[in-house]
Amino acid sequence: RMYTKIAYDHFMNPRNAYLMDSSNGEGQVGDPACGDSLMLFIRVENNIIEEASYLVFGCPASIATSSMTSVMVKGKTLEEALSIKEQDIIDALGGLPKGKEHCSNLGVSALRKAIKTYKENCK
Ligand code: FES
Repeated sequence: RMYTKIAYDHFMNPRNAYLMDSSNGEGQVGDPACGDSLMLFIRVENNIIEEASYLVFGCPASIATSSMTSVMVKGKTLEEALSIKEQDIIDALGGLPKGKEHCSNLGVSALRKAIKTYKENCK
């Protein structure tokens, strides 16, 4: 399986991989088929995602896609973040090896949950 240079770099040097103390939205998802799991944290101010981080346990593709998700959402409005799709993450990584595309679902699902949690917390 060949990873692109971008995907390999995000796997080897994951961006924003830390537990966030100041988050106001969190989303946890797991893929029962492979056992991978992801906890994503966001800090939202004035409808903008000012900070995004995560803790991930999973395959190289899940780490690379979590990393890219955190990079892509930073500075976006909640509406813009909600419009991000799995394919956007895959495209930003320059593609994923065949059979690994589904791993991008973790980041997107966790992001949507985190935004939902934020909206519930801040009603
Ligand atoms: Fe489980 Fe990649 S194989 S998310």
